[in-house]
Amino acid sequence: MSRPNGLVVSIDGTAGTGKSSVGRAVAEKIGYGFLSTGGLYRALAYKVFANKVDPTDTQAVLQTAQAISFTFERQPDATLKMFVDGEFLGGKLHLDEVAQTASKVSTNAAARAVLTEKMREVGKDGGIIMEGRDIGTIVFPDAEVKIYLDATAQERANRRVRQLLSKGFEADYAQILASIQERDLRDSTRAASPLKPAEDAIKIDTSSMTMPQVVHAVLKEINKYAS
Ligand code: DC
Repeated sequence: MSRPNGLVVSIDGTAGTGKSSVGRAVAEKIGYGFLSTGGLYRALAYKVFANKVDPTDTQAVLQTAQAISFTFERQPDATLKMFVDGEFLGGKLHLDEVAQTASKVSTNAAARAVLTEKMREVGKDGGIIMEGRDIGTIVFPDAEVKIYLDATAQERANRRVRQLLSKGFEADYAQILASIQERDLRDSTRAASPLKPAEDAIKIDTSSMTMPQVVHAVLKEINKYAS
């Protein structure tokens, strides 16, 4: 399939495998846009929370999703900066409560269909790296290059601890590990678009790899397709 602006590259995988850092770095190197699609689920979670909607109320969550207006602005580092009803929510989307609610509302099949359409709209012309859970399986089953990143839950918890400590926050390894395992379980066992590699995805276990090594491996796959 040929798209006007280049390829669609999907990067799926569990939380904390470095999908965002890797996706952004690769996009910057090849001049593509980069979208972290978890942001749309986090935005929905934020609105559900702000509007005091019950995350298990299927109809109300769907209506909340339908009412959100998303706009995106490409940044110099390739990232597509997301505005939710005209507002940049930034760090508010990264609170643990928002992440947990995002994982809950993302079990809602009808709301997923609404957000999936928004993602397709952003990516359909190509020239984009999209990171998420179901990009290669559901959002863009016709993505030209599909990557699936994984790492052990212990290694991902260690990375998160190091990240928090480096920012001067406190970090409780046991609590972080439990939160990662809880999210993994919900994301991979939900009925609607469970997290799983596409059959034609290239699987990379990043447990003992550095970020530059993973970036290199992904670039290699893109170059293979392009040549
Ligand atoms: O990648 P993230 O941590 O920002 O994702 C937040 C939640 O959104 C995560 O629990 C799973 C869900 N998600 C999803 O179901 N499908 C996507 N394409 C991206 C994220």
